[in-house]
Amino acid sequence: MSVIQTHPESSFGLYIHWPFCLSKCPYCDFNSHVHDRVDHDAWREALVREINHYAAMTPGRVLSSIFFGGGTPSLMHPETVAAAIDEAQKRWNFSNDIEITLEANPTSVEADKFTAFRRAGVNRVSLGIQSLREKDLEFLGRKHNVGEARRAIEIAGATFDRFSFDLIYARPQQTVAAWKEELEEALTLSGGHISLYQLTIEPGTAFFAQHARGDFMIPNDMAAGDLYEATQDILGAAGMPAYEISNHAKPGEESRHNMTYWRYGDYVGVGPGAHGRLTLDGQKKATRAHRAPEIWLNDVTAKGHGAHPFEDVTPDQRMTEALMMGLRLSEGIPLSRLEHESGRHRDTFFDAKKIKALSDEGYLTLSDTHIAATASGRQRLNALLSYLVG
Ligand SMILES: C[S@@+](CC[C@H](N)C(=O)[O-])C[C@H]1O[C@@H](n2cnc3c(N)ncnc32)[C@H](O)[C@@H]1O
Ligand code: SF4
Repeated sequence: MSVIQTHPESSFGLYIHWPFCLSKCPYCDFNSHVHDRVDHDAWREALVREINHYAAMTPGRVLSSIFFGGGTPSLMHPETVAAAIDEAQKRWNFSNDIEITLEANPTSVEADKFTAFRRAGVNRVSLGIQSLREKDLEFLGRKHNVGEARRAIEIAGATFDRFSFDLIYARPQQTVAAWKEELEEALTLSGGHISLYQLTIEPGTAFFAQHARGDFMIPNDMAAGDLYEATQDILGAAGMPAYEISNHAKPGEESRHNMTYWRYGDYVGVGPGAHGRLTLDGQKKATRAHRAPEIWLNDVTAKGHGAHPFEDVTPDQRMTEALMMGLRLSEGIPLSRLEHESGRHRDTFFDAKKIKALSDEGYLTLSDTHIAATASGRQRLNALLSYLVG
């Protein structure tokens, strides 16, 4: 039996990756694939087997969330979702208020499955709306239109206790005025949680090549900064401040699953390419599964799991990872958490001169108990982190 030495406030999550999509969006570098045929029975069995594999090494843990991410999990058969949830419930204890989220695309076919997903145990959906403007949905290569987006939001609201949707901003030629108008519209549809991502051009995507060729331009840093600030103002005024760089919620509506990542809790990652962090016998382990769906499926069939060998996360890495995750959150990180992860006293963490420089610029706050990035610090988090821990 494992000795569990996680942080006392830690929650415990299960991430399940479904790697298939109907088509590949030109901006997306997630582990998602378009296959003509998916053997749903084989995938159901493999997901259940890998859940079992991880459950055997984490006995007695209490699961606070499950997240079906992708890819496009709304393409899963509801029986597969039900089988994964049932297995997790059999093998771990569920917390009373367990959050079970499924990422869904808003095409009408997928929205029609929402009731079946609810019956399977899902109690929250996260919809990939991306835009409420027809021409931008086209630019983003989406398969749904604005009418379907609105309808999917309506059905989600009527079917689930909680729902969220994603929008992508900082699109070509997007003005602050146009974004404000679209955001106000989005707020009238919101269920209390919205994810607002700034468009990034990722290597290996169709957009990367098109952008490099000069087919389109995205807002420069200054224009993107203005859009970010407008976002903070509008969502703040609507009672949905950012609790993380790109995530906004009414108090209590935060994604519990994602909070586990950002607060550096433990989570199991199941499915191709899934990552996990697990404390086993007091040692934090990094887990990582094979990315290619076929390799993962073959491995699970042959040996019960598709993971690469686990790697130990050293105390210094734990400190850096906890900092990288926690500074994304507006609540910041308790210094007690950093002490727990690093095994060091808080007085040894930071260079006082760097802290003063970052505080003077208005990017960071350090109190007796917490370190936190401000909204403008979160906007340039990578630069802030490399200066702070560099
Ligand atoms: C795993 S993806 C999408 C899940 C679902 N398949 C969908 O498309 O709705 C999660 C979210 O990341 C965001 N995203 C993906 N690539 C992005 C990019 N290059 N820039 C900004 N946001 C991106 C999108 O908003 C997307 O909904
Ligand atoms: S954005 Fe969603 S639907 Fe589009 S390719 Fe990525 S995971 Fe698939």
